[in-house]
Amino acid sequence: MYEFRIDAGDKAELYRQLTDAADGLTQGEPDAIANMANVSALLWESLPDLNWVGFYRNVGGELVLGPFQGRLACVRIPFGKGVCGTAAATLEPQCVEDVNAYPGHIACDSASASELVIPIVSEGRLLGVLDLDSPLLARFDSEDLQFCAALVDRITDRLTGA
Ligand code: SME
Repeated sequence: MYEFRIDAGDKAELYRQLTDAADGLTQGEPDAIANMANVSALLWESLPDLNWVGFYRNVGGELVLGPFQGRLACVRIPFGKGVCGTAAATLEPQCVEDVNAYPGHIACDSASASELVIPIVSEGRLLGVLDLDSPLLARFDSEDLQFCAALVDRITDRLTGA
């Protein structure tokens, strides 16, 4: 059994512990789906104020739903559509303070108010995206973006082949 005690006083420490935990959880495990499943569970349990967290995979140039925690979600998202599709098309993280003000936002869960999407890129190729949704407006800031991107970066080589 995996047991991680995430007990942090500030955001930097929280993400440091989370990144180490994600690294430990996925180390030596080549199955990308299993790794995405455990990392989404880890983030869901440890990050406050989320209503959805999970992965979309790049399957033949389209985002397809992967392991996640939260309510049922859209299965397929074309590149360029919504927040996830924009991250996929641009390979740039997207931090959206108010999804209802975002042109083309795809409302999978009407509870979502803000969103952070991190593209997962290996050797220039998009593997997929990590998507975090919150019921709070402006839940994510540039620190969340940097720390989540660093977490993804640490484990990218264990997310290939999904
Ligand atoms: N809102 C996202 C779609 C995915 S769900 O939030 C899980 C978007 O606009 O890309």
